[in-house]
Amino acid sequence: MSATLERSAPQSPIVPGTSNREFLTYDRADFLKNYSQRPFLIQHAFSDHPLFQLPRLMELARSLNEKHIEYNGGDLPVNQDPALTPRNGLSPEATIQRIEECQSWLVLKYVENDPEYRALLDSCLNQIRPLTEQLTPGMMKPHAFIFITSPGSVTPYHMDPEHNFLLQVRGSKTVHMFDGRDRSIVSERDLEQFYGTRSRHMILADENRDKKWVIHLESGKGLHFPVTYPHWVQNGLEVSVSFSITFRTPDLDQRRGVYSFNAGVRKYGMTPVPRGVCSIRDGFKYQTTRLYQKIQGLFKQADK
Ligand SMILES: [Fe+2]
Repeated sequence: MSATLERSAPQSPIVPGTSNREFLTYDRADFLKNYSQRPFLIQHAFSDHPLFQLPRLMELARSLNEKHIEYNGGDLPVNQDPALTPRNGLSPEATIQRIEECQSWLVLKYVENDPEYRALLDSCLNQIRPLTEQLTPGMMKPHAFIFITSPGSVTPYHMDPEHNFLLQVRGSKTVHMFDGRDRSIVSERDLEQFYGTRSRHMILADENRDKKWVIHLESGKGLHFPVTYPHWVQNGLEVSVSFSITFRTPDLDQRRGVYSFNAGVRKYGMTPVPRGVCSIRDGFKYQTTRLYQKIQGLFKQADK
């Protein structure tokens, strides 16, 4: 695997979208070749956008539901467990106000609940949908997140369950990304634990530390993260603001269902057949998990 990934700016024209304003630029062939398989760069036009200035982000933080804001100290080791990450002792607003010096990492979740950010998210997704539909049809559940990080902060090693493009608006960061298809990096057990427990905590094994792409992101660039490709992120020497646009597709529901089933099988001491070996078996596992979850839901409702 190549140790670095640096590419020139995409030269092809913007793919027509359905929104009034188009913020993304990407190389169509590059997109189709790499989407969902490996990281690739795109460009965006959010660098000076007023919705990403710190006073506006503080206003956004005030308006969001408290449970949709996660913030922590940012001086962390790569293998830090997110559930045990130390808080920074500040409010979200104060964290943003003092982000320059408070050594913190903050994420504003589901910012599409604000109509102005929703419009940006929709615009971006409208632009990429014609291509993603060819490869992973059924775009649904669009969500956007904003990451605000202090200079030098580290986001520990973890993986995410959605299709994701991270748009670097301000500052810079270096993303260390690992191939989620390589079972020496992400094992069947890792995937079962991820989908079965929803814990994001992962340990980067010493022998895997160098099996990675290293991608430098600066303002104006965006990066595609394939689903469950682990990564850790080193922030640059300035405050960083990133806009993450995400969505899901029906195949990801199937994937979650199969791995949740396998996690259950493993709990009883058996070794499940890995996902992807037999589509009929995978279909059965998915449908069984769905049925189990429906019954669980009914019990929960009855308990209310
Ligand atoms: Fe992530």
